[in-house]
Amino acid sequence: MASYSYLTLLFISYIFFSPSLAQTKLPLKAVNLGNWLVTEGWMKPSRFNDIPQNNLLDGTQVQFKSTKLQKYICAENGGGTIVVANRSSASDWETFRLWRINETHFNFRVSSKQFVGLKDYTNRIVAGSDTAGFPQTFQIVFSTERNENNKNSKVKIKASNGQFIQVQSDTLLTADYSGSGWEDSNPSVFIMTIVRTLQGEYQITNGYGPDKAPQVMRDHWNTYITEQDFQFMSSNGLNAVRIPVGWWIAKDPNPPKPFVGGSLQALDNAFKWAGAKNVQQNIDYIYNTRSSDLAKVTTSNGPLSFVGEWTGEFANNGASKQDYQRFAKAQLDVYGRATFGWAYWASKCEQNHWSLKWMIENNYIKL
Ligand SMILES: *[C@@H]1O[C@H](CO)[C@@H](O)[C@H](O)[C@H]1NC(C)=O
Ligand SMILES: *[C@@H]1O[C@H](CO)[C@@H](O)[C@H](O)[C@H]1NC(C)=O
Repeated sequence: MASYSYLTLLFISYIFFSPSLAQTKLPLKAVNLGNWLVTEGWMKPSRFNDIPQNNLLDGTQVQFKSTKLQKYICAENGGGTIVVANRSSASDWETFRLWRINETHFNFRVSSKQFVGLKDYTNRIVAGSDTAGFPQTFQIVFSTERNENNKNSKVKIKASNGQFIQVQSDTLLTADYSGSGWEDSNPSVFIMTIVRTLQGEYQITNGYGPDKAPQVMRDHWNTYITEQDFQFMSSNGLNAVRIPVGWWIAKDPNPPKPFVGGSLQALDNAFKWAGAKNVQQNIDYIYNTRSSDLAKVTTSNGPLSFVGEWTGEFANNGASKQDYQRFAKAQLDVYGRATFGWAYWASKCEQNHWSLKWMIENNYIKL
């Protein structure tokens, strides 16, 4: 096992690891190992591809418009009371956050954080519960007319009593419709619009579910960052890595659901590859040597400074390769003056300019 003893490991939580932080030459030139132990969907969207119903991950925000009334469903006052269907436009009170149970069943959380459900085991739909249990569980049923790529879908919503929600009037929603049919005049048909989605660690593990998520995540941890990446970093002028870790890693190997165990093992590999041996020594080093620096953080000319995340991307569609090179160079010149150093976001990313590996391999950045 090769080891790259001059690679220092930094953590988002500001715990520093290395065999030799005391000997590592400052300033650090680091890269963030983003999307490795904490998933960020935008950096590699395909990891979500095999999740069933992957447009309705946990936390997705949706709005429902009755096709019959042409009005949006609304939790009056944002929650705590009745649910109506009398709004001609949709905003906060008309937006429902999905708590995903599985690919078909969800709880709907309203803006004041109550859950939509059946009122006292009647058929009346209200937004009055602070917790999500059986009466607050709904199945979203899609029309076959549905267009997979469309963020608007024709749906019915089945309540826990087995009946579909219908608009009795624009101020009364009940779960007592058992008919079929998807015509627009049908009081149980709604257009569901997805207004916001999330793609983080919770979404991917909850989405794959307890049977599949452990294998998917282990494959990801083992392939996304490998020893070869550490080799690449070392040989291209980097001397540290910064690793975002989730709070649940502290509970490994048995983190709370839906998170899955095993990320600690992946982190252990990073230590090995970086040649880290004595963690406690580094914590002591930081404590003894740097805490006085931190105490001076609000005074001028006092503390060491560190640029935690920078990138070579900038919002200009017409930029040439040369523009990108100059932009990166300018940042390196400035951030190079940070006394503790800097860390690029990120090591790898499907958006090329966000990937330091890609930027180096394609001669946009030279360290
Ligand atoms: C919708 O109905 C509720 C309940 O009757 C009422 O308080 C509210 O003013 C109505 N809103 C609109 C826009 O009609
Ligand atoms: C999804 O969850 C609901 C509610 O807990 C349950 O009734 C249903 O069987 C589950 N479906 C799948 C496919 O697991």
